[in-house]
Amino acid sequence: MSTADIKIRVDKVSKVFGNRVDDAMRALSDGADKAEVLKKTGCVVGLRDIDFSINQGETFVIMGLSGSGKSTLIRHFNRLIEPTAGQIVVDGRDIMRMNSRELLEFRRTGVSMVFQRFGLLPHQNVLDNTICGLLLQGIDRRVAVDRGMEQLELVGLKGFEEKYPRQLSGGMQQRVGLARALSTRADILLMDEAFSALDPLIKSDMQEQLLDIQARLKKTIIFITHDLDEALHLGDRIAILKDGELRQVGTGEEILFKPADDYVERFVRKVDLSRALFVHEAVKNVPVLSSAEATAERMAGLLDRNAYVVVASGPSATVVTKDGPREGSPAARIEASAPIGQCFPLLAGSETLVVETGGIPVGVLTREMAFRALARLAPAAA
Ligand SMILES: Nc1ncnc2c1ncn2[C@@H]1O[C@H](COP(=O)(O)OP(=O)(O)OP(=O)(O)O)[C@@H](O)[C@H]1O
Ligand SMILES: [Mg+2]
Repeated sequence: MSTADIKIRVDKVSKVFGNRVDDAMRALSDGADKAEVLKKTGCVVGLRDIDFSINQGETFVIMGLSGSGKSTLIRHFNRLIEPTAGQIVVDGRDIMRMNSRELLEFRRTGVSMVFQRFGLLPHQNVLDNTICGLLLQGIDRRVAVDRGMEQLELVGLKGFEEKYPRQLSGGMQQRVGLARALSTRADILLMDEAFSALDPLIKSDMQEQLLDIQARLKKTIIFITHDLDEALHLGDRIAILKDGELRQVGTGEEILFKPADDYVERFVRKVDLSRALFVHEAVKNVPVLSSAEATAERMAGLLDRNAYVVVASGPSATVVTKDGPREGSPAARIEASAPIGQCFPLLAGSETLVVETGGIPVGVLTREMAFRALARLAPAAA
């Protein structure tokens, strides 16, 4: 990745809340953890030594349990919170060095925020809510109205300009929130649990809409969520925070299949299976031979037409490709009727699983197939 593609660089950022910040920072560098720092100094560690970059045009998701530092981190990007140590660089500029005029300009036109509770003004109609930021910038009302109408159309609210927030559903109110954020044409969108207050169907509509808008506008979006399915659906990459520390940054596939530690793995296990995705929906059926049938000639013929062949001998089965037996053979096995979540720990250890029904091998499941099946839950991302 060239530096030209980096939109935001977070460079060894730590944030400590409290009165004895210097003592707390010293304790941190001596290796104390969040709980010890609190005990010793009374300070709360919000973030510790956070280091990563967000690319231009990327949807970057931040996940972690309550109190892990997600909101603290996202608020650094518009300097609502200032770091105790470290640097935030946006478009090559250290935002801590902006003077108050530059900061004001940056907040008006460089970043915008979509709030969890929508944050609409109840006594203003949809259009006025959408353009309030533009009017504050001193933009001519006619120009602002044109831009606002454009954004309302983009979020599917054309015709609702004159309505008031109370006349709209939660999903529609959040569309206004989104239109308002887009109206400033800021490159960076900050979304802190923006869809968490919506009920599941509306939430899923909003996700589709965001993907659609993002495909057209290519903003840099930082999106906080508690919901792993939402993260996998929306995120180009996902960062996982624990107690203010960054545990892993990676694509959905990396997070699912190469969890950096137990904490990340526990997150992964929470993939929502309520939508009932089972191994058989992801699996590819392939030819299965007994070891006696697997002559070189027969194998060569089958491998000409199939990417995988399974050779089963008693309780063990080997996945063979054109390049020979797959790593991790004999392969771990999983029942076709198992929920897809059960495959993650197994696929973390080997690239390919043998899928069986009633103990008889029928096909293979690779990391890629499992991931694609999950992504199909999210058609726009597939
Ligand atoms: N202004 C503040 N003063 C003192 N401590 C704070 C302040 N803001 C956040 N914290 C602490 O920093 C830590 C991270 O909080 P933060 O709000 O970033 O968590 P979060 O991951 O967004 O949680 P949630 O999922 O509940 O929104 C917590 O321990 C919190 O108590
Ligand atoms: Mg929060």
